[in-house]
Amino acid sequence: MNPNKALWEKGDFTRIAASMRQSGEALVNAIGVTQGLEVLDLGCGDGTTALPAAKLGANVLGVDIARNLVAAGNKRAQDQGLSNLRFQEGDACDLRDLKARSFDLVVSIFGAMFAPKPSDVAKEMVRVTRPGGRIVMGNWIPNDPTLVAQILKISAAYTRPPPEGFVSPMTWGVEGQVLERFGSAGVPKEKVSFNRDMFTFNFAGSPSEFVAAFRDYYGPTMNAFEAAQKDGRDEALLAELDALFASQNRSGKPDATSIPAIFLRVTVTR
Ligand SMILES: C[S@@+](CC[C@H](N)C(=O)[O-])C[C@H]1O[C@@H](n2cnc3c(N)ncnc32)[C@H](O)[C@@H]1O
Repeated sequence: MNPNKALWEKGDFTRIAASMRQSGEALVNAIGVTQGLEVLDLGCGDGTTALPAAKLGANVLGVDIARNLVAAGNKRAQDQGLSNLRFQEGDACDLRDLKARSFDLVVSIFGAMFAPKPSDVAKEMVRVTRPGGRIVMGNWIPNDPTLVAQILKISAAYTRPPPEGFVSPMTWGVEGQVLERFGSAGVPKEKVSFNRDMFTFNFAGSPSEFVAAFRDYYGPTMNAFEAAQKDGRDEALLAELDALFASQNRSGKPDATSIPAIFLRVTVTR
C-alpha cells in the first residue's frame, strides 16, 4: 500500500477538519472565488475549502488521496445539496485523469504539500491550470513557533528518522524551494507571490481534549504516539503536546480551544 495514502486514511482527519471550518471559509472568501469559476481543490480532505468555494457558486472538484475523506466530502456535498461540488480520489503527484489547462483556480490548503514528490506536484498543478488562471497554496512553515510546525517538530523527536530521499512536506513553507519547484515547472519567479497568513483552529473542548483528538484521529500524530509507545515515551510526548496546546490556546475559556497558526500563502499566476 502507498504509505502516503495509508498515512492519511489512518484515523479520521474529519475530526480535526471540524476545527478548521471558519478559517477555511474566510480563506476562500479572501482569494476571490466567484460564480462559475472552475476550481480544483487538491488534497481537499472532506472539503474545508471546497465546500465554501462551491457555496460561492464555483464548480468545484475536490481531489484527495484518502478514500475515506473523499467519501466524507461527497457526503457533505450531498447533505448540503451542492450539485456543483464533487470529490474523487487522486494523487497530487500524478493527476493523469485531469485535462491540461482545465481549471481557473487550483487551491491546495495544507494538502499537496504532503505529497511525496514535490517537483511532480508543482508540474501537475501548473499543467491543469489554464493560462491566466491561478494556483493558491497554503503551506505550513518549518520551525515556525505556532501550532502545526511545533506539533511536527515535537513529534519528529519521538519517531525514527525518515527513509533516505524523503523530502519533508515543510520544505513547501520555504520561499526559495517553492520558487525552484515552480521554476522547474516553467513558471518565472515574477509570477509567484508570498504572504504570511493565519489559520485558527477552533475546537469545542479543552486543549488537552484537542491533543487527544490529534492522538486518536490524526495519522501523523497517531504514528508518533505508536513510535513513542514502543520506546516507553508516549507519556512524555503527550505532556509536551499538552503544554504546547495549552500555551497557544487563546479562547479564554476552559472548555474551548482556539489556536491561531501562521502559514505561507503562495499565489502563482499562469
Ligand atoms: C492536513 S490535511 C488538509 C485537508 C484539507 N485541505 C483541509 O484544509 O482540511 C492534508 C490532506 O492532504 C491529502 N493528501 C496527502 N497526500 C496527498 C496526495 N499525494 N495527493 C492528494 N492528496 C493528498 C490528505 O489525504 C489530507 O486530506
